[in-house]
Amino acid sequence: MTQTGVRIAGVGHYVPSKVLTNADLERMLDTSDEWITTRTGMKERHVAATDQPTSAIACEAARNALANAGIAASDIDCVIVATVTPDYAFPATACIVAAKLGITGKPAFDMEIACSGFIYGLTVASSLIRTGVFKRVLLVGAEELTRLVNYQDRSTAILFGDGAGAAVLEASAADCFLGAELGADGSNPENLYLPMSGTAGPPLTAEDVEARRNTIVMNGREVFRFAVTKMIDATNVALARAGVAATDVAWLIPHQANRRIIDAAAKHLEMPSDRVIINIDRYGNTSAASIPMALSEAVAAGKLKHGDVILFVGFGAGLSWGAVAWRWSHPSSNGKVA
Ligand code: ACO
Repeated sequence: MTQTGVRIAGVGHYVPSKVLTNADLERMLDTSDEWITTRTGMKERHVAATDQPTSAIACEAARNALANAGIAASDIDCVIVATVTPDYAFPATACIVAAKLGITGKPAFDMEIACSGFIYGLTVASSLIRTGVFKRVLLVGAEELTRLVNYQDRSTAILFGDGAGAAVLEASAADCFLGAELGADGSNPENLYLPMSGTAGPPLTAEDVEARRNTIVMNGREVFRFAVTKMIDATNVALARAGVAATDVAWLIPHQANRRIIDAAAKHLEMPSDRVIINIDRYGNTSAASIPMALSEAVAAGKLKHGDVILFVGFGAGLSWGAVAWRWSHPSSNGKVA
């Protein structure tokens, strides 16, 4: 089978205009700006309008990524959307996104691995390109978790925000995919899950909806412990597979779930804080969207230099985890890596 390289040709992101601040949450719940800031690092998050489904914000991010790449939607061979908040249980949101973008007759599918979604998607999309199946893949992480939150549960309500990030991946002479590690352990799904949302258990009743039993449930302390361990383990394996030393990593772009989790992982990896991309203060946890949003902001700010090694790392419901070591190729380099 054909073997080629892959690079990110363009990135983009989008957040809905409505902002929910810690001060707003103070008025809704028994919480405080001080608690939220010190325990999570979050200050505000964005909330999609009710007439703005996940496909709508995914399309906004995708259009920005296509423009950044200078690639027409008609040149995309495959659309992948990483999300746990699809427009519908079916069809796949990726099919709707492709249609809205005018990409017709091309494969489109969703990946549902919660906050690890973009890491998994990057690995799958890269594999499809490196093996010659497709030349260009549009990968979007888009989430509207605020719709699944119980705003009477202070332990989860404060955490989540809506947003979307996208990357256009394309075949290139040099290979920017350096190495990856993915994993999952579904033995205790209740550590982080959405009850009454599928085929496990009885059908949802009006009473269940009234009692908000179909909203996010999380064992925060357990997820926290797991997150720090798995981010470090996955990072070490991905770097070993890439043949890259931790000291050669220019940028750590982690899933934005909790500032304390990011700081603990960065400390273990001996990454100075100015080499870690963090935007959790402005967006909260946007699940599969958080890594491509952070990447897109870093690119827009001119932080990433041609040839830089980036380490993407994330974890989430599943429980699931993953890390990808990637070499940044500036869009104007035509696939050559320094
Ligand atoms: N405001 C004020 N007090 C609060 C709040 C709040 N919003 N939430 C909880 N508390 C209280 C608790 O009731 C508890 O009080 P108690 O000691 O009287 O019982 C106290 O604060 C400490 O609670 P903990 O749960 O131990 O707080 P912790 O320091 O662990 O922080 C948090 C909680 C922020 C949820 C943390 O555990 C965390 O970030 N976990 C990981 C979450 C995560 O990463 N999820 C990711 C994936 S999402 C996905 O995949 C879709």
